[in-house]
Amino acid sequence: MRARLASANEHKLAELRAALPGWELALLDRADFPPETGATFLENARAKARFGRLHAPADEWALGEDSGIEAAVLGGRPGIESARWAEDGVARLLSELEGATERGARYVCALVAIAPDGRELAVEGVLEGAVAHDPRGSEGFGYDPIFVPLGEQRTVAELGDEWKRSHSHRARAAAALQSALSGSG
Ligand code: IMP
Repeated sequence: MRARLASANEHKLAELRAALPGWELALLDRADFPPETGATFLENARAKARFGRLHAPADEWALGEDSGIEAAVLGGRPGIESARWAEDGVARLLSELEGATERGARYVCALVAIAPDGRELAVEGVLEGAVAHDPRGSEGFGYDPIFVPLGEQRTVAELGDEWKRSHSHRARAAAALQSALSGSG
């Protein structure tokens, strides 16, 4: 199954390739992705997938992905603002949580897949965890140096890309997509 991911993020591509065996996945080669104006991860993922549907080869699937981190004590922020915080996102999140003992957070990934015939599948994957007090580790991207998954002591950046490929919010969304596909005939 061939698909184009409407994203310029190589990390997302690598994680989804590992999590979607049997798919032949490539980035959609565009520079003009639509702005993220949706109110939810799912709306943004759908907008990207629909953009992908317009520009991907007609015989390939179009995939849209939107993801981010939600801190409980911040009422779910940065959430869909995660990318906009991203340049100094780690420093900003640490500073917004300074002194906070409640550091629960979750990674969320929404994935929308549109088939060549226009059939649309939408799924989500979540990874629960907490925000560390200091950045640790060098793998992954974005908030990985400060995100500690539930049941782990190490950050995602310490756990590494290999761990991420089978446990991340993106891997979970990909698994949900696979089961939605096998259930939808
Ligand atoms: P998007 O391209 O709008 O989906 O941006 C997602 C943003 O959320 C990224 O730029 C990261 O800052 C953050 N993010 C999403 N997924 C991850 C992840 O797996 N690890 C760390 N940060 C992530």
